[in-house]
Amino acid sequence: MKNIMKPVFFILSFSLFVIGCVNNNQEKIQNSSINERVDSLISLMSIEEKVGQMTQLNLDVLSVGEIYKLEEPHRLDEKKIRKAIVDYKIGSVLNCGGHTYTREHWHEIINKIQVTAQKETRLKIPILYGIDAIHGVNYTIGSTLFPQQLSQAATWNPEIVEEIASITAYETRASGIPWNFSPVLDLGRQPLWSRFFETYGEDVHLAKTMTKACIIGYQGKDVSNNKKVAACMKHFLGYSFSMSGKDRTPAWIPERQLREYFLPTFKEAIAAGAKTIMINSGELNGIPVHADSTILTNLLRKELKFTGVAVTDWEDIIKLHKLHKVAGTLKEAVKMSINAGIDMSMVPNDFEFSDLLIQLVKEKQVPMSRIDEAVKRILTLKLELGLFEKPINYFADYSDFGSKKHSEVSYRAATESITLLKNKNEILPLKSNQRFLICGPGANSLNILNGAWTHTWQGLDTNYNSKNKLTPLQAIYKEIGKENIEYTNSCTLDSINDLSSAIRKAKKVDKIIVFLGEIPCTEKPGDIEDLTLPRAQVEFVKQLSTCGKPIILVMTFNRPRLITEIEPLADACLLTYLPGDEGGRAISDMLFGKINPSGKLPFTYPRYSGSLLPYDHKHTERLDKKFGENAFDPLFEFGYGLSYTKFEYSELKLSLTTLKQNDTILISVKIKNKGLLEGKEVVQLYSTDCVASITPSVKKLVAFNKINLKPGETKEVKFKLSAVNFSFIGLNNKPVTEPGDFELRVDTLKAKFIYQ
Ligand code: BGC
Repeated sequence: MKNIMKPVFFILSFSLFVIGCVNNNQEKIQNSSINERVDSLISLMSIEEKVGQMTQLNLDVLSVGEIYKLEEPHRLDEKKIRKAIVDYKIGSVLNCGGHTYTREHWHEIINKIQVTAQKETRLKIPILYGIDAIHGVNYTIGSTLFPQQLSQAATWNPEIVEEIASITAYETRASGIPWNFSPVLDLGRQPLWSRFFETYGEDVHLAKTMTKACIIGYQGKDVSNNKKVAACMKHFLGYSFSMSGKDRTPAWIPERQLREYFLPTFKEAIAAGAKTIMINSGELNGIPVHADSTILTNLLRKELKFTGVAVTDWEDIIKLHKLHKVAGTLKEAVKMSINAGIDMSMVPNDFEFSDLLIQLVKEKQVPMSRIDEAVKRILTLKLELGLFEKPINYFADYSDFGSKKHSEVSYRAATESITLLKNKNEILPLKSNQRFLICGPGANSLNILNGAWTHTWQGLDTNYNSKNKLTPLQAIYKEIGKENIEYTNSCTLDSINDLSSAIRKAKKVDKIIVFLGEIPCTEKPGDIEDLTLPRAQVEFVKQLSTCGKPIILVMTFNRPRLITEIEPLADACLLTYLPGDEGGRAISDMLFGKINPSGKLPFTYPRYSGSLLPYDHKHTERLDKKFGENAFDPLFEFGYGLSYTKFEYSELKLSLTTLKQNDTILISVKIKNKGLLEGKEVVQLYSTDCVASITPSVKKLVAFNKINLKPGETKEVKFKLSAVNFSFIGLNNKPVTEPGDFELRVDTLKAKFIYQ
């Protein structure tokens, strides 16, 4: 008995001593600076506690039921929570258990998790919850769902992007969550890619402008503000440009191209203070990025001076072993990735990462300094977010959640993004006293308008659709009533069910509006074999065209699906991208003239599947078979988009004809609204470097400005630029502006200057 009591007494008194020290220490560190608080905490932490902080688990692991097959309605599992938070001391949780929840349920989840961390762990370190709030907080019922990123880029209006990000931050925090895995900063230069709609399009300057606006909107000046979230720029680096166009397949991008096209958005986000970064799941130049210290440490830390948290993508350490085959065992994979520079593993479904990393540290295969560095970054973020002081938000602080005020911003963004690509004989706007056939798979679907990341990962489940939001058909009914409308759902995404009834109805109306669409999808499930629009939809339009009635195509696509065969059959084409919950209303208002279109393409719309060139291609890519310069022949060019009014450009003037290194050049141009309607125009300034040591692209966007003009009004737009705006990545892989001639272009106006 004595013998047993002795060690028990010792353990008890030692534990009390430790708890006493911890409590004392915690009081002391409350008031010191974040750095000191982090260092003090780290000095108290065991290896298990440190590795716990580096571990991020999927909510499924903490929930009742099997992973990916949770019991409904969703419930947390007390035992599993204790295992994760108390035994394994994990630092972070992500995702929803398969679908969207009410805000009340999110608060229950977050409360339970934080209370467990606070009451039952030695150091009371709060848990960092992360979610994909991609276009609004899309896993919370009743939230404001915005147009997806590609649509946001099509507004060419960074102020709207900032507003969207700011509301998303508000509604994410309102759901109890302080960390958002957004924005996607991969450039959209591979139109086949399933995540094309998640990008800001193909151009560096446009994407950089939107990146900055988004980071500021998410994080504000101070992320401890409980209306702001930590952003997560993703997916570093080269994810969007795989050769095959299939998700997570090899990308081969030489360093110069990486720096010219794919790095600048990340640089911009880091400069804007982005707190976290997610790593590219794929391989870049033969090396899975999760194992590449050149990218994760040399480039990201030493060169870009990023000090925030680097989190893996889903299961990506496991994939180093199981899929990429660069690690013979899982243990080797853990070692590779942590030593390469990963701070947190989105494991996310088991505890093997934690067990193996603890072993690796004990065996000195991963140095403690690397662990401390990672933990320091994670704890710093938790302190910056104010989670230690306030791990749980008050529900009542967020009365604007899902408000009309917020949905109006979504509506405005949708109206500014939708792009009018064709308007033969000014068939649009439509007159409401005519008769219309409404048809096509997108006509009556909220899911197609929103795309993936909408209440579920793939956005397909109609059970969770937002209430009281209108599909295009419902919005049109509301606008002009049902009497003049024929509707048929005889063409789905990939089949035609009842062509004869569609034709019968088409014959009765004045005009046909076909809502073409793409199935909501992202990541692997969104891989396609062919960029062409599914055959059924192409055939449907062809058949309808035999009725001899004007056809208006409204295209709601994840990426530029080829419409080359049917575009000539249409009198008007509206590209809506994925406009979100207010898209139906916005489309109807645009069709019937309440809104004047002002969206411009943020990418080049291809004509042929074999010619997927961006607008800033090289001169050689223009050369055609007859040695003319017509090989670049997209259906619609980057930056293109019509209005219901007409703008006239004049007086392009430069303040200098010779620009020197430290000078600035003022470029001004006048724009007049020559039509009868008020409208917005995006003034786009392109530059051509006439001769350069690295083959120059034919042109590059260097500045833009969206302005509003009343009928008859003229405005002067000015751009102030300097040498850096005309730079490119030179021979030594560093930015350079080379002396020589430059040509500037706005609309069809041109001017030249020399850089000396
Ligand atoms: C995606 C990320 C996302 C993560 C968490 C991954 O499959 O690639 O973009 O943030 O899942 O949901």
